[in-house]
Amino acid sequence: MNVLLLGSGGREHALAWALSASPLLSKLYCAPGNAGIAAVAECVALDLTDHASVIAFAKANKVDFVIIGPEGPLVAGIVDDLTKAGIKSFGPSKLAAQLEGSKGFTKDLCREFNIPTAAYGRFTDQAAALGYLTKHPALPIVIKADGLAAGKGVVIAETQAEAEAAISACFDGAFGAAGTEVVIEEFMTGEEVSFFCLCDGETALPLSSAQDHKRVFDGDKGPNTGGMGAYSPAAIFTPELAERTMTEIIRPTVAGMATRGMPYKGVLYAGLILTADGPKLIEYNARFGDPETQVLMLRLKSDLLAALLATADGVLKSFDLRWYDATALTVVMAAHGYPATPEKGTEIKGLDAAARLVGVEVFHAGTAKHGDKIVATGGRVLNVTALGETVAEAQRQAYLAVEAIDWPGGFCRRDIGWRAVERETREGTA
Ligand code: AMP
Ligand code: GLY
Repeated sequence: MNVLLLGSGGREHALAWALSASPLLSKLYCAPGNAGIAAVAECVALDLTDHASVIAFAKANKVDFVIIGPEGPLVAGIVDDLTKAGIKSFGPSKLAAQLEGSKGFTKDLCREFNIPTAAYGRFTDQAAALGYLTKHPALPIVIKADGLAAGKGVVIAETQAEAEAAISACFDGAFGAAGTEVVIEEFMTGEEVSFFCLCDGETALPLSSAQDHKRVFDGDKGPNTGGMGAYSPAAIFTPELAERTMTEIIRPTVAGMATRGMPYKGVLYAGLILTADGPKLIEYNARFGDPETQVLMLRLKSDLLAALLATADGVLKSFDLRWYDATALTVVMAAHGYPATPEKGTEIKGLDAAARLVGVEVFHAGTAKHGDKIVATGGRVLNVTALGETVAEAQRQAYLAVEAIDWPGGFCRRDIGWRAVERETREGTA
């Protein structure tokens, strides 16, 4: 079959890489793609905000299945438009994508269906929001813009003044339309885990867990980013915790969404925090994680395309997923100046030498081909990904590959996986 994948990041390169191995695939297109994706798919320059042009391309090129990578088009209703045009797609409808598109929507769902999460209030009025602060003086307290804010809409306020300033910033338009409503919530303590499930509206099939590293510098310092590295599985997320999460969080969500008449179909990415009282939901995303997908895809043994089709067709109940019993770790290389002002246009060399290392795949994010040269187009640029028996081994191999890459214009964290490696060292398994 012919498949069109939407997106241009490391997540999409990893998905394209896995899809291209499928015996079900005839032709893979990716819009807009990047220099790495071009090795496994035909890249096409489509504007993803223009749903009509995506539909016209799909029809003209006999595309049987469209897979949506990023949240923007999902929240804007691209799946609804594709469905109306008679084109099968992977991803939630506009209503179901509210699980990512509106934090207040998700909090209300949690309240209605008893899903463990932080206590909260949601406000469209600044005076009422400030009133909530007075009634809930415990610090820190978390202030969130309700809508999509490219990962920048969350402030963990350490003082009352910071909380007040964050609320004002939201209502003053710091996040545009995303901040016209504000969610204020209790601060939760624990280690964070990303957990991914495929959902077909009725059945939730667990994929696997991963841990991301959101801060830009070593030791989890500096500003938040889209994610500087990840590994999978997260050993701290034991099978018992996974089962508890399925029972207390994931299945009630899928059932709740069906009850509300907006069945959730696609990948459900739960941002969890493992508190002393058990796993709690921080937030949902309605798409695969980036960079978590890069590590998941290296570990997936089953045919990704078959799994995504089973999701779209509503037949996950009888689907069996297989994984390689290894750990994968990815190191994000970003352009100097990321996340604030990444430098563009610097040349990257040594990619072939890195890819020749055993168990290594280098997924591209912000890259383009200029003549024979690969250049950085800004932000997160490469995901240097490796498999190993342990996190320590995958980490060693990934950093060997990083050393093989000759890119003075980029940098990376040097400690991806540190928590897990420390644990392995303590337990003598590193
Ligand atoms: P988000 O942009 O929604 O992924 O949130 C960014 C980060 O803020 C999360 O990964 C957590 O580290 C943190 N965070 C969000 N909500 C809470 C909370 N209620 N308690 C503690 N940390 C939180
Ligand atoms: N890794 C964070 C995200 O995909 O949102």
